[in-house]
Amino acid sequence: MSDLLIQGLHKYYGNNHVVKGIDLSIPAGEFTVLVGQSGCGKSTLLRTIAGLEFADQGSLSIAGQRVNDMPPKDRDIAMVFQNYALYPYMKVFDNIAFGLRARKTPEADIPGKVQRAADMLAISHLLDRYPRQLSGGQLQRVAIGRAVVRDARLYLFDEPLSNLDAQLRDEMRGEIKRLHQELGKTMIYVTHDQIEAMTLADRIVLMREGQIEQQGAPLELFEHPRTRYVASFLGSPSMNFIPAVLQSDSHGLCAQIGAGLSLKLPQGRFGHLQTKTGMAIELGIRPEHMRRQASPRDDVAQISVDIELVQPTGSRTFVEFKLGAITTVAELQAHDVHRSGERLALEIDMNRVIAVDPASGLVVANGATV
Ligand SMILES: Nc1ncnc2c1ncn2[C@@H]1O[C@H](COP(=O)(O)OP(=O)(O)OP(=O)(O)O)[C@@H](O)[C@H]1O
Ligand SMILES: [Mg+2]
Repeated sequence: MSDLLIQGLHKYYGNNHVVKGIDLSIPAGEFTVLVGQSGCGKSTLLRTIAGLEFADQGSLSIAGQRVNDMPPKDRDIAMVFQNYALYPYMKVFDNIAFGLRARKTPEADIPGKVQRAADMLAISHLLDRYPRQLSGGQLQRVAIGRAVVRDARLYLFDEPLSNLDAQLRDEMRGEIKRLHQELGKTMIYVTHDQIEAMTLADRIVLMREGQIEQQGAPLELFEHPRTRYVASFLGSPSMNFIPAVLQSDSHGLCAQIGAGLSLKLPQGRFGHLQTKTGMAIELGIRPEHMRRQASPRDDVAQISVDIELVQPTGSRTFVEFKLGAITTVAELQAHDVHRSGERLALEIDMNRVIAVDPASGLVVANGATV
């Protein structure tokens, strides 16, 4: 049975139609990440699940029971807000214990539960401090502790790590994932950060303007996006999109990019487009599917490019060059390239390249799973 079932959900703020028909079924124990651009309705959806906003249309059920008209406190939900919302005049212990006391947990049980949550989050040495005496990362842990200390049916997180620096965010991300593995609870996590979505989720629900664009396991969305929007949202640096025209010659189907450059397309994945010669497409090429040229192989396109920008990250180096008229990013080995202005022979793994119909934004040929 699904722990949370949402059917035909709509939400308006005045005339502003913010949630536009969401259908979502979340199985018990799953870690679901709602991801999407700022303003697409993630927080509104989460707040509606929590009961902090009313659904204008549609139904919400938790564990098989319709909760549309149930007040938040009866929904058996624990929520972590983006802005922590800790009580400044309460010590960490009492902040964490607050929800337990509000729910009339016997006072004798409270220290043990608080201690367990604090141990999990490595904040047991802070229980005697006030929030103002804590760092951002410590505050964040207390806010998470306050939610997980309770035995709730559903745990909701609204961008809980957005105020932390990059390193702390990486650490906390790991801790949240461990916490989920330990507790085995149903969790819904909102973020606009695609890396966070990829690393945490059992399932990603990618939202766009109040609707679900695509949902599925992280690698499923990454490797088999249904739309250009999904393909470009996931992955960093983003997928390159190169306008091209489908052509066929004696060797089979190819993508013509400008006058001088034509890339042969693997028959297996593009064969169904054989009848579409002359169609304008965009080739979607991920930066990591290009590399320095090795010996020629099937389904590898060889190109020669003039490097315009070199960005080392330590382990890998991102380079920019023109493919047709489009500035394109490739992810190479750290020492593959030394300075801009170099001419470099690269290859593209054509088995991973996708094709988009620019008119509809739909992916018309997807990459192979390797
Ligand atoms: N209380 C409100 N009254 C009116 N409009 C609102 C209210 N809350 C949100 N909105 C609007 O609804 C839309 C969706 O907002 P929401 O907060 O759900 O976005 P979000 O996806 O969480 O974005 P972010 O990533 O920036 O947090 C936005 O256009 C926002 O301006
Ligand atoms: Mg939000």
